[in-house]
This record gives sequence, structure tokens and C-alpha cells, in this order.
Amino acid sequence: MFKHAGSLLEMKGITKSFGENHVLKGIDLEVRAGEIHVLLGENGAGKSTLIKILTGAYQMDAGEIFWEGQRVELNTPVDAMQLGIATIYQELNVIPELKVYENIFLGRELKRSGKMSLLNHNAMKEEAQRCLEMLGQSPALADQQLGKLGVGQQQLVEIAKALTLDAKLIIMDEPTSSLSTKEVEQLYSCVEQLREKGIAIVFISHRLEEIRRLGDRITILRDGFKIDTLPVKTTETDYWIELMVGRSLEEKFPKQSFILGDEGFRVEDLKVDRASEPVSFSARYGEIVGISGLVGAGRTELARAIFGADSNGGGKIFIDNQEVKITSPCDAIKSGIAFITEDRKSEGLLLDQPLDFNIAMANMKKFKSKSKLIDLNAIRVTAKEYIKELKVRPGNIDLNARNLSGGNQQKVVIAKWLCTKAKVFIFDEPTRGIDVGAKVEVYRLMNQLVESGAIVLMISSDLPEILGMCDRVLVMSEGKITADMGIEEASQERIMKAATGG
Ligand SMILES: Nc1ncnc2c1ncn2[C@@H]1O[C@H](COP(=O)(O)OP(=O)(O)OP(=O)(O)O)[C@@H](O)[C@H]1O
Ligand SMILES: [Mg+2]
Repeated sequence: MFKHAGSLLEMKGITKSFGENHVLKGIDLEVRAGEIHVLLGENGAGKSTLIKILTGAYQMDAGEIFWEGQRVELNTPVDAMQLGIATIYQELNVIPELKVYENIFLGRELKRSGKMSLLNHNAMKEEAQRCLEMLGQSPALADQQLGKLGVGQQQLVEIAKALTLDAKLIIMDEPTSSLSTKEVEQLYSCVEQLREKGIAIVFISHRLEEIRRLGDRITILRDGFKIDTLPVKTTETDYWIELMVGRSLEEKFPKQSFILGDEGFRVEDLKVDRASEPVSFSARYGEIVGISGLVGAGRTELARAIFGADSNGGGKIFIDNQEVKITSPCDAIKSGIAFITEDRKSEGLLLDQPLDFNIAMANMKKFKSKSKLIDLNAIRVTAKEYIKELKVRPGNIDLNARNLSGGNQQKVVIAKWLCTKAKVFIFDEPTRGIDVGAKVEVYRLMNQLVESGAIVLMISSDLPEILGMCDRVLVMSEGKITADMGIEEASQERIMKAATGG
């Protein structure tokens, strides 16, 4: 491994507040060349804020930053880029209409030499291809329109962009949260190659297994304080969790089983589009049904078809043995179906609206007073209850959703749908980007939902979560349901086998 001469980066006493909210309280962080340095902390602990200061996106209130021993000022993202700091943000920053290589060179396009200085498309394309190949991607990807790619591939494009910048430090804020298993493996090997080359990586993740696999050192933040920096190899995962949440976590999966009621939900020969295979399954009241499979197996498409978010190619949906006609999300909500989407930013939230409005918006009817006006006070009271129950932080309902950390935004989306009092809850990757403590809160809520007689369908790529929380598992592969098993007969191996088509 690359031997470091000293620290590449030192952040000292970094302090930052947003109004009354003291987010970073004197954080120290030291990063060495050639190490993978993990930042771990609960949702809202300040991880993204710390790295936004490092990338020049936010200004700190107090503190100092040293780069290769020299004190530096990072006033703009360009300052950081010039030092060799590249960032893959938690929310992707791309222009979907442009091609992949155009996105990679956005704002720093290569020019031809000569008077006219026209853009040198070939040079940009070649460089983009080289970096995409380093990530195990086909070079042909460089020419494709970015918006047509899945989230996973878009993220790999962002990483390719960092490679073209010849960065010395690459910051990755939850980079694997929306990648498929195969893409995750590619990313890991790419990150390991970067380390071999002496590049430093700051890696933010809520996935403890991947921290264990990749990390060299780990810095744990809690409530804006740095708790400790530890070597990964010689410390236990449970100890990290303890430092991170301030107590030990007894149960990762608080599964409760209830006596199942009648079949409340049934899908018959539903086709996602005309050409696709018909899908049929049913679920009983009190049941948590997992929908497992690889990214791209058609799970989200199925959920969207059920919910009326996309037009389908025919089929029937029954609630309480009554057929319901669903041609729009509005119909679905009326029939008692809630859909908690995986893409909270574009589908789940109105980012520039306060939390109370976000929580109430799927259910305005409930808040109509006798005079047909919206009862704003009732909205506030309800929103406060959910915020408390889900431990959304900060718990101020007047904040705009944009100003919440990623994981707390996810909790607000969940609160919005809980508020609809639906009969069938479809959760799509509900705990993605959520810290270990908050995951347990989400699971407890699922328990409460089924205990009160609802049905939960949980799409998840996290096998331990499926095995830990579900009563039954459906596995999908290439748009079809390839297995339907009770939890007692399910195992990682059996699920993976069905997910890969046999
Ligand atoms: N632009 C902003 N305006 C106001 N408050 C903000 C802003 N950005 C972040 N915050 C607040 O700063 C705190 C830390 O947020 P940050 O995004 O750094 O958390 P995080 O550790 O990255 O969490 P997560 O794991 O959920 O991504 C949160 O309380 C958040 O609400
Ligand atoms: Mg974050």
C-alpha cells in the first residue's frame, strides 16, 4: 500500500450553524494519502455538511483547513477542485439532456488549439471512455444521453468525472446506496484501485458491512461532535454503533409476528406494459411481504403499475376481494394504497415546502374542516406527532424539506404516507440512506402498521432486512415472480438463486 508522508488534509475545529441549529461543533478530521477514511454518524449528525465545507460549497463559521501542510481557504467549489478535491454528492448533480462525456467535462470543456477554440469532442470522448473503462463500464457509454441511464450508472459517471479530474482526494457521500450488486462490486474494486494509487477517499456510508470491507480508518460523528477516529480492522462494528448512537443497540430487526387476517390485497395477471409477463400475488392483513430481487428486476415498475403511477398493460387489482380500478395515484390513494417511493427527492417531497405541508399533502381531505377550508392547525398537530414518532431531526415543522439531511427527508416521506391511514403500504427501499438506529424505528413502524391490520409490501435489496422483517418473500427476476416462500424456508442463498433466474 502507498506509504503516507504526512496528512494530506487536516480540518481543525470546524464549526457551522444554520440559524439556531448548531450543526458542527469543532470537528477535527485528518485524512492521509492512500487511505479510505469513513465518516459514520446518524442522520443529521453533520457528515454532508462537513464535506460541503471541504468542497467549498458551504462556508464554515470557524476552523482551519490544511492541505498538504499548507493552510488553505476554500471559498468556492473551484478552489477545492484546483487543489484536487473531487466530490460525488449524495444527490447527483447532472444534466440529463447532455451526453455522458459532456456531463463529465461540464464547465471545463476541452478546446481545440487554434484561434477558433472550438470544443474538442473527440478528446473529451476518449478521456471519458478511458475513465469509464477503469470503472468496468463499456466505453460506448460515453456517447449515451445521461438521462436515459439508471441512477446507478449515472453515479458511476460522476465517479468517472472525478477520475478525469486527477483528484488527490475523492469524497463519496453514500455512493453505493442506489447501485446494483454488480455496480457495487465495480465501485469497490475501483475504490481499492484508487487507494493503491495513493488517492485518498473520504467515504460516507450507513452500510456497516461495506465500511468493514473498505475502510482503513473511521471517524464517528454524533450531534455535531467528533467522537473518535479508529482503525477499522481492530475495532468491532457494535462498538462503532455504540459511539454513533450513544448507546448499544439491542435488536437490529425487532420482528413481531401477528396472527394473519383475511386476504386483503390481490394482484391478478397485472402486466407492467403490454409486452411484459403477467404478475399475480396476494397478501393477507397483518403480513409483511418482502419483494426481493436484483436492481432492475422490475420491482419498482410493478409497484408503480399497482399505484397507477404508470399506465399498465392490463390486469386486475383487488382490495378486500373487490376489484378496484386504478388509473392514477389518486385512485390508488382512494382505494387505500400508499406508495413510499425510493426516489424521495424527485417523487416524495416538495423540497421548498415546510415539513407539515409535506406530511399532509397526500391526505388534504382529512384536514378539511366543516367549512371546507383546510384546518391548518390540525395539519400542524398531526405533523408534530409524526415528527416525534419518527424522530425527525431537527423536529421543526416549519423548516423546508430541502434543509433536512438525506435520512431525515426519508423519514418525512414515510410520515406522509403513514398519515393517509392506508390499508396497503408499499415501501420501496425504505431504509436506504437511513442510519442503523432510525432503521429500527422504521421497522417498529412497520410492526405497528401490520398490528393495526394493514398490509406491508417491502421492496428491498437488503437481504438481512428482508429475512429479518418479513413473513413471506416474493422474489422477482426479469419482470416475473420467480419464488414465493414463507420466511421459515427463505435464506440468502435461495433468494439469490431465484433472483438470478434459477
Ligand atoms: N442548507 C441548510 N440549511 C439549514 N439546515 C441545514 C442545511 N443543510 C443541512 N442542514 C442541517 O444540518 C444538519 C446536518 O445535516 P447533514 O446533511 O450534514 O447530515 P448528515 O450527517 O449528512 O445526515 P444523513 O446521514 O441523513 O445524510 C441537519 O440538522 C440539517 O437539517
Ligand atoms: Mg448526508
